[in-house]
Parts: sequence; structure tokens; C-alpha cells
Amino acid sequence: MENGKKLYLYPLWLRIWHGINALGILALIFSGISLHYSDRGILLLDFQSAVAVHNLAGVIVTVSYFLFVFGNILTKNGKYYRVKTKGLPNRLTKQIQYYISGMFKGEESPFPISEKRKFNPLQKYAYIFAMYLFLPILIVTGIALFFPEIIIEQVFQLSGIMLTAVIHGIIGFLTFVFLLVHLYVASMGKPPGKNYKSIITGWHT
Ligand code: HEM
Ligand code: HEM
Repeated sequence: MENGKKLYLYPLWLRIWHGINALGILALIFSGISLHYSDRGILLLDFQSAVAVHNLAGVIVTVSYFLFVFGNILTKNGKYYRVKTKGLPNRLTKQIQYYISGMFKGEESPFPISEKRKFNPLQKYAYIFAMYLFLPILIVTGIALFFPEIIIEQVFQLSGIMLTAVIHGIIGFLTFVFLLVHLYVASMGKPPGKNYKSIITGWHT
């Protein structure tokens, strides 16, 4: 309760996008792992179901991605994602110091949440990477794998499909890592369930 006020930080459209996206990405991770290891018999889902789930969740996440992008173009939520490079290394260092030391000594957060600043600097750039780098790459390579005839056959000596699948797999893995860190950091509210409530009700208290 940084300034004792309730802040409405997550408008309805954003909460709807976030819920659809979270479930969709979870389904993509589960089915993606099954697709990747299908030849080794390590299956969370059998191959046919994994393909069906992955294709459906891929379409859902792709469509809902446009809700995120247009929502941020058309509403003031977009301003939280504006890159400001001036003094950035300094801000990131401060936040890292807080996470590895200050927090455990009970220090105040260096970038308390307010209407003007919804995210701390680390959080902001993690979201920018996930939303404006990882997801677009996953969507473009995913669509290419869906319509393999559009992929260039050979890139230098390498198979284009192979290269696309490798890039898709690596970025999928990084998105999984992002999600684990995201869930951990989101649990740092006091009490721990506080931030999870906020992304459902919209209110930060
Ligand atoms: C976090 C998200 C995602 C993860 C972890 C993921 C993971 C994977 C993995 C591991 C494979 C198998 C590639 C291989 O190892 O050969 C795969 C294939 C595939 N992915 Fe994804 N993926 C994700 C998102 C997406 C999205 C957003 C789309 C659609 C736009 C998509 C469409 C596909 C397609 C079409 C294939 C080929 C197999 C099939 O037809 O189902 N993926 N994905
Ligand atoms: C089970 C899955 C998930 C849970 C429980 C969860 C939880 C949360 C919580 C508590 C917040 C609000 C606090 C904060 O800003 O840190 C949040 C915001 C956010 N989450 Fe997640 N998340 C999940 C999955 C995802 C995934 C898969 C992505 C993207 C790939 C994602 C991207 C975001 C973004 C971009 C925001 C900020 C939205 C904004 O305010 O503009 N989340 N999430």
C-alpha cells in the first residue's frame, strides 16, 4: 500500500487479454514440450492431441495479441511500455540491488507503484521483451510452421523449416523462463496473493 490509495491499474480489456493469453501460453508450453519430445516417448499429451491443442492455442494467442497491441495503441496503458534509455542502466541497477539485497533488509522499494509508474524498470523491460520481441517471433515462426510451404527452403546450407523450428523452440523456452520469473516476482506482494488478485479485479491496493 505504497501511498495508502487504491489504484485502478488493469482495465477490463487488459484483464481479459491477460487471462486468455495466460491460459493460451500455458497450453502452448504443455503441448509444445509434447511436440518437441514426441520421438522420445516423453509425452504429456499424445502427438495428435498435442498438435491439435498447439494449433488451437496458437490461433487464440495470436488473435488475442492484437487485443494487447491495439489496446495499448488506443488507451493510455501504452505509455507504461514506452522505452526511455536515458539513465536506464542506473535505474536497472537500483532495482537489481533492491531485489538481491535491499528487499531482504526491509528497505523501501526504489520505484514504488503509482498511477504514473505501474512497473518498476526491470518489470517494464521484461514485459517489453516478452510482448514486443518473444511473442511476435513466436507468432511469425508459428505461422510459418503452420504453412511450411511459405518457408524459404534453404538458408545457406540449412533447412529453412529446421531453422524456423529451432528459433521457435528457443524463444518458446525463453517465454517459459519469463513466465516462471513473472509468477515468482508477482508473488512478492504483501500478502503473497495480493498481485494475483489485482490482475483479476483490476485494483492495486
Ligand atoms: C510459449 C509459446 C510456445 C511454445 C513454448 C511453443 C513450442 C513449440 C515447440 C517445442 C514446437 C515443436 C518444434 C520442434 O521441436 O520441432 C512447436 C511447433 C509448432 N508451433 Fe509452437 N510454441 C509456442 C507458441 C506458438 C504460437 C503462438 C504458434 C502459432 C502462431 C505456434 C505454432 C506452432 C506450429 C504450427 C508448430 C508445428 C507443429 C504443429 O503443427 O502443431 N506456436 N511449438
Ligand atoms: C498463469 C499465468 C499468469 C499469472 C498468474 C500472471 C500474473 C500476473 C499478475 C499478478 C500481474 C499484475 C502484476 C504485475 O504487473 O506484475 C500480471 C501482469 C502482466 N502479465 Fe501476467 N501472469 C501470467 C501469465 C502471463 C503470460 C504468459 C504473459 C506473457 C507472455 C504475461 C504478461 C503480463 C503482462 C505484460 C502484464 C502487465 C500488463 C499491464 O499492466 O499492462 N502474464 N500478470
